[in-house]
Amino acid sequence: MHPTVRKAVFPLAGHGTRFLPMTKSSPKEMLPVIDKPVVQYVVEEAVEAGIEQMVMVTGRGKRAIEDHFDISYELEDVLKKKNKHALLAELQKISNLAQILYLRQKEALGLGHAVLCAELAVGDEPFAVALGDEILDGPKSGLAQLLEAYRQLGSPLIGMQRVPLSEVSHYGIVAGTELRKGLFRVDRLVEKPRVEDAPSDFAIIGRYVLTPDVFDILKTQSPGVGGEIQLTDALNTLAERRPVYALEIAGDRFDTGDKMGFLKATVRFALKRADLSEEFRHFLRETLKRDLLPETSGEGCDADRPVSR
Ligand code: G1P
Repeated sequence: MHPTVRKAVFPLAGHGTRFLPMTKSSPKEMLPVIDKPVVQYVVEEAVEAGIEQMVMVTGRGKRAIEDHFDISYELEDVLKKKNKHALLAELQKISNLAQILYLRQKEALGLGHAVLCAELAVGDEPFAVALGDEILDGPKSGLAQLLEAYRQLGSPLIGMQRVPLSEVSHYGIVAGTELRKGLFRVDRLVEKPRVEDAPSDFAIIGRYVLTPDVFDILKTQSPGVGGEIQLTDALNTLAERRPVYALEIAGDRFDTGDKMGFLKATVRFALKRADLSEEFRHFLRETLKRDLLPETSGEGCDADRPVSR
């Protein structure tokens, strides 16, 4: 039996520069997808995977995350007085989701450094890592898929998905030997390669299951791409010492730290919501009809006119 994974580390200290000016004073992880902050989706994914303790590595300007998962006595009192029981239960569910520990990464020195900051809280046991601005929509929690494979393999695992070749330079890319469909033994990882140097189109997504021996490697890891201490580089060293696997994660991934990813996530999750989907679907249909009308075909945009292209 391999030791159970009980803890998940959430590196949350990034600046969110791709979403400025919104992220000037609000954490990117608190952007709402419908009515829930992105980071709550990620924590719920971890809870669904059976993880009990969340280790949040935050930084300056990230207080709103702590407040979100805390009890809000004043608000609860107001809701009680107004008999808004469903909303009250929803709020209480959030503060009871999991045990959460907060640590600070004083300087944003890279993802590898953020994970190293969690060492004291993780100790000598395997742990999951989930990036707090990536959400997944699939048949099963992404972390649950990784943990299921971990229970069989007992070795570090990286979540991966195929990406278009034009996007490989935004990711860590996996070179590996396929053991069965969707499962690779990692030979090498390349962080943010040029398209001509990418060994495959399998990108590391923000989900990992790691073993505590990675901490010692991270302690001496020199900065890599972008001058940052890269988790990918440490995982390369780990893969030289022991088997490291990469598992293709089923489901659609949304990088909500990116404007397009955020828009797509909003549309996807709104269409799944029973209270919103009907009207929203109608709105989208009408908007697209207008958008597809040739600009030169007359005044206004009559949504009932046939679409001619
Ligand atoms: C990080 C990792 C990269 C991975 C990506 C997934 O990069 O370093 O290997 O592919 O997350 O989102 P970042 O996006 O933090 O630069």
